[in-house]
Amino acid sequence: MATSDYIIELHQAKKFFPIRPKLFRRSGSDDYLKAVNGVSFKLKQGESLGLAGESGCGKTTTGKILLKLCAMTGGSYFFKGRDITTLTAKEEIKSFRKQAQLIFQNPYDALNPRFTIYRSLLEPLIIHNLGTQQERRDMIRAVMERVNLKPAETFFEKYPHQMSGGQLQRVVLARALIVDPAFIVADEPVSMLDVSVRAGVLNLMKEITEKMDLTTVYISHDLSLIQYMCDYTAIMYLGKIVELGPSRELIAAPIHPYTKALISAVPIPDPDVANEAVNISNNVPSPINLPPGCIFQDRCPVVTQLCRQEEPVFSEVAAGHRVACHQAET
Ligand SMILES: Nc1ncnc2c1ncn2[C@@H]1O[C@H](COP(=O)(O)OP(=O)(O)O)[C@@H](O)[C@H]1O
Ligand SMILES: [Mg+2]
Repeated sequence: MATSDYIIELHQAKKFFPIRPKLFRRSGSDDYLKAVNGVSFKLKQGESLGLAGESGCGKTTTGKILLKLCAMTGGSYFFKGRDITTLTAKEEIKSFRKQAQLIFQNPYDALNPRFTIYRSLLEPLIIHNLGTQQERRDMIRAVMERVNLKPAETFFEKYPHQMSGGQLQRVVLARALIVDPAFIVADEPVSMLDVSVRAGVLNLMKEITEKMDLTTVYISHDLSLIQYMCDYTAIMYLGKIVELGPSRELIAAPIHPYTKALISAVPIPDPDVANEAVNISNNVPSPINLPPGCIFQDRCPVVTQLCRQEEPVFSEVAAGHRVACHQAET
């Protein structure tokens, strides 16, 4: 079996959606919505990455690629050194699914309303054939205590509608953890929760993923959440990562004009972060039939002629900090 220092190695991942049926497609035309258009990053065990950016920039689709919930149009994806794109044997896919778990945004949708909490947590153990009957009860009790649902037995026979949103999101987290995964994707994990319970769920997720040395990808439009939760932050725009770096560095000293604009738009509770306003014009262009050159050209306050002709290379400006901007290259 291949080995690698990295748990996740995504290289030039692409996901294009056809925008009209084949029959009506003009030949040679670019009739695709480029949801993810060449995304690359690597993560080692225990590292966390936040994917940020406006709605529609391709965050969820990138998360789906990472969990093999959607097929890539192009690029390569290695998980623990193994090529995931070519996995076809049922057992191999099942083993990958056990190791790579998703935390849903909405806990009310994630759990079967007709299942008791015990039954919901038993399900993954049955699917992956883990533990004997007695062991399963102990595993369920242990994972519930780990997510602070104690005493666990008092929740066993409850149904989702009898639990609060915060408690349900803990059950969703427990269900992901019970199969002992190596990698977790959390897509907007607290955005459906009441503000008052968000911090509790986030602190718990941070504590558990650190203790278990899990590799995690958090998807959120909330930069202060990402700065708190993640070692690295990637800023996405129209299906591409425009800047990626250590979270503190990227948020304290952003380089890409789009990152600067995003940061200036949100209050970051950190005295070291200057909050100067950066205005960007227009709305996000459509990810269909993109013009040549930089994807941010139409909204960029420092656009030049070069930006309209040539696409900037995503290149390293400091250790572990990469930016796709012509201004950053000089
Ligand atoms: N199944 C799909 N079919 C067609 N277009 C899709 C599909 N899923 C996502 N998209 C489009 O891909 C783009 C990226 O979507 P998504 O990854 O959900 O963005 P985000 O999570 O950042 O809001 C959007 O323009 C969205 O409309
Ligand atoms: Mg999304």
